Amino acid sequence: MSNRKYLTIALAKGRLAHRSMELFEKIGIFVEEMKDPHSRKLIFTNEEYGLRFFLAKGPDVPTYVEYGAADIGIVGKDTILEEQRKLLEVLDLGFGRCRMCVCGPESAKELLRTQAQIRVATKYPNIAGDYFYNTKNHTVEIIKLNGSIELAPIVGLAEVIVDIVETGSTLRENGLTVLEEVCPLSARVVVNQVSMRMENERIMDLLNRLGEVIRQG
Ligand code: PRP
Repeated sequence: MSNRKYLTIALAKGRLAHRSMELFEKIGIFVEEMKDPHSRKLIFTNEEYGLRFFLAKGPDVPTYVEYGAADIGIVGKDTILEEQRKLLEVLDLGFGRCRMCVCGPESAKELLRTQAQIRVATKYPNIAGDYFYNTKNHTVEIIKLNGSIELAPIVGLAEVIVDIVETGSTLRENGLTVLEEVCPLSARVVVNQVSMRMENERIMDLLNRLGEVIRQG
């Protein structure tokens, strides 16, 4: 391993990183140190396979991969669409499944149908903009928020929101509903364009092995 470069893998911190490491364990790649909940370490190595893992904020994963600071990233499709980075999306890991939706009170359905002047609150202004301007040809005002998006229609900041719906319980508990579906989402593997050429054999080997355990369920 000494004269070989590490392959560097950026993981979106949180649930996605846990699920990703479970997947790596299924193909025999263990990084025990990463499981210590008290550790403040950000970067972990597996010498046997020449791999280096690090944890980053989800929206930063595509940035690390585009610039080649990470060869590979694991991140949600929502983040890939929103960040619009130059990278190769190569594998759907099949977990973290949810939907990007336009949501609001039932009464807002009519506003969407009539192309009324409305405000749309979201953590995903690029996804929302693309959906309303390009897919629906509906000119809206987009308001960027950073979380608890469901609040916006309740307190009158916006008529509808564009947000992630997983179980739907946040919507239900706040009297809101799915009005339109934008796209399905799940965890994806992304690869730096140069790394894919320079380290093709190692990256493809890893992707094939991950793909195999996913297919086996
Ligand atoms: C996400 C999303 C919804 C919720 C959907 O929020 O923005 O609020 O999960 O999940 P559900 O359909 O299972 O209820 P998250 O918990 O990530 O926090 P945020 O509101 O700060 O974005």
